[in-house]
Amino acid sequence: MASSSHFICSSSVLFLLCFQLFSSISEAVVPASDTFTYVNEGDFGDYIVEYDANYRALPPFSNPFQLCFYNTTPNAFTLALRMGTVRSESLMRWVWEANRGNPVRENATVTFGTDGNLVLADADGRVVWQTNTANKGVVGFQVLPTGNMVLHDAKGKYIWQSFDSPTDTLLVGQTFRAGGPNKLVSRLSEVNNIDGPYSFVMEPKGLSMYYKSPNSARPMLYWSSSEWFTIDKGSLSNLTVTSIPDTDEGFLYYLTFEYFTTNPTASSNRNIAYTKYNNTLSYLRLGIDGNLRVYTYNPNVQGVAWELVYTFLDRDSMEGECQLPGRCGKFGLCEDSQCVACPTPSGLSGWSKDCDVKKVTSCKSSEFGYYKLEGVDHFMIKYTRGDGPTKQSDCESKCTKDCKCMGYFYHTDRSRCWIAYDLKTLTRVGNSTHLAYIKAPNK
Ligand SMILES: *[C@@H]1O[C@H](CO)[C@@H](O)[C@H](O)[C@H]1NC(C)=O
Ligand SMILES: *[C@@H]1O[C@H](CO)[C@@H](O)[C@H](O)[C@H]1NC(C)=O
Ligand SMILES: *[C@@H]1O[C@H](CO)[C@@H](O)[C@H](O)[C@H]1NC(C)=O
Ligand SMILES: *[C@@H]1O[C@H](CO)[C@@H](O)[C@H](O)[C@H]1NC(C)=O
Repeated sequence: MASSSHFICSSSVLFLLCFQLFSSISEAVVPASDTFTYVNEGDFGDYIVEYDANYRALPPFSNPFQLCFYNTTPNAFTLALRMGTVRSESLMRWVWEANRGNPVRENATVTFGTDGNLVLADADGRVVWQTNTANKGVVGFQVLPTGNMVLHDAKGKYIWQSFDSPTDTLLVGQTFRAGGPNKLVSRLSEVNNIDGPYSFVMEPKGLSMYYKSPNSARPMLYWSSSEWFTIDKGSLSNLTVTSIPDTDEGFLYYLTFEYFTTNPTASSNRNIAYTKYNNTLSYLRLGIDGNLRVYTYNPNVQGVAWELVYTFLDRDSMEGECQLPGRCGKFGLCEDSQCVACPTPSGLSGWSKDCDVKKVTSCKSSEFGYYKLEGVDHFMIKYTRGDGPTKQSDCESKCTKDCKCMGYFYHTDRSRCWIAYDLKTLTRVGNSTHLAYIKAPNK
């Protein structure tokens, strides 16, 4: 159809017809036969899916991706894309979702209308989520075999794509952009699909992971790509998870971050992992625990199709799991990826999940003090410089004056100071110049 219209336009005698044709393009609509409304009702699916959820599969499907409603708590559904095939019998996973933190109920609808807008509405008609693409030239909807769900115009250009609104997952081909989608936010828990405290962010000079404490407005840095790859000149403009077959060897497939910088414009790759099979079906996930992992899906194997191919904070890696803020719960000492002790005012005791700080409820400096730990670092220290050089007494008085400060960390060899608004996991570093002072009530 498109080619015949071009033909009409190029024949110069048919001005009038040509004009009419253009005005009809500007009002392009979705053919009625391609519109849909799916209602969240009926029986649940039979297969095992991530988070032990119930789900209802909807018709939009492109192997191995399918649009579904799922719920982990009764009558609170998320519209999501599921990855995995029935045939592989492996757990199917949720790789994109529309309405985290804003669930819908039974009889909610997802509608693609002639105006080209895709709308998720609750049973009472309240619009919960939409693509905001009404009358923008959208003529079609598609779930692509890459897991990208798109609304495209008559020329095939994407007016909207799910790849531009990641939650905690990046599929191969999905891109972070400066000034665009540039971060993942963890899920709070398997059951509770709201934003968790961790984020993974593309910044001008690299990638970072942050923990957002309820005690502090400022997120705390617990990982940075700085030791792994650095942007010496310019700043990152975009970064894509890419699968690259090794053409020399022929049987290796690399998963990489392919990135571009501006000022100057340059491109580069940083390999993350490789497999001996085609790993185009892979994703990067910021987990509930704040760790970042890469999973591949190999539909050709018998049995478990998923493989965890890379963990950023791994017990076998340089970082170790001790860099994970929540590794040892609310308060614990970590060594070689293990939780080894509970630091208390009267010394170290055995670690348990219940280890916690003694809460200081008063802001009066006469009502609290500090207890000292030697050879210990906070998770934020590895990638931040702290303040200084400064005297330890100044570091302490800064913490004392700040009700929200839970303790401070001080390196005597470099006279640097860190104020901690949350403690979580401390790491044993075996360096007596690294000191921690934890606030505790006097009685
Ligand atoms: C959903 O809608 C149908 C048809 O209108 C109705 O029979 C059913 O009771 C509704 N379900 C719920 C849970 O409200
Ligand atoms: C990334 O940026 C480069 C340079 O600005 C551009 O050529 C490229 O198309 C961009 N890639 C994506 C996937 O947006
Ligand atoms: C890898 O698989 C994808 C689809 O799953 C396919 O498009 C691509 O051509 C495959 N690559 C190679 C090198 O076989
Ligand atoms: C302690 O850490 C400092 C740097 O922070 C380093 O120069 C020094 O060698 C370390 N000492 C030991 C015993 O590891």
